Amino acid sequence: MALLWRAFMDEQAALDPASSSPASDADARWAVTFRDLVDDPASALLVAEADGQVVGFVVAEPHAEAPVYASVPEVYVGELYVVPEARRHGVARALLDAVAAWAAGQGAERLRFAVLWDNAPSRRMVEAWGATPQAVTFVRAIT
Ligand SMILES: CC(C)(COP(=O)(O)OP(=O)(O)OC[C@H]1O[C@@H](n2cnc3c(N)ncnc32)[C@H](O)[C@@H]1OP(=O)(O)O)[C@@H](O)C(=O)NCCC(=O)NCCS
Repeated sequence: MALLWRAFMDEQAALDPASSSPASDADARWAVTFRDLVDDPASALLVAEADGQVVGFVVAEPHAEAPVYASVPEVYVGELYVVPEARRHGVARALLDAVAAWAAGQGAERLRFAVLWDNAPSRRMVEAWGATPQAVTFVRAIT
């Protein structure tokens, strides 16, 4: 899992070096986060296996808007990764279906995703899964 998570981080960093590069202690932090995800029944870390190998994973947690907004219960999909060799075989779709089933069991009514704008494959994938864009985050360096 640590290797897969690192590969995910490195791919994200390659797309967006300015704001998605791993911190110097990222691997140590992941070790703690991993344990929390496994132990916390309110979070989900689901993996996909093929031929006895883990080929993908997804991390999901409850999400709440600021209390001032009327909102429906949601689950936020924070990380979703499929190893390059296993892509385009429906692994991400299967992981999202599994997360949706888990989230429904938690009482959630929606899944929420944040996808880097430059990550066209991922945008296509979540749209193919039925998600629609809601907001765009803009950043500008202050010089
Ligand atoms: C994005 C990612 C998770 C997709 O995983 P995957 O297992 O290949 O996706 P699936 O095979 O389930 O694809 C489902 C559908 O999404 C769309 N899709 C997936 N990858 C695509 C791509 N590279 N280009 C265009 N459409 C794509 C297609 O509609 C596909 O259905 P089809 O193959 O029948 O045409 C994978 O490429 C990945 O891990 N990328 C690096 C990490 C990342 O970007 N994670 C998402 C951050 S939120």
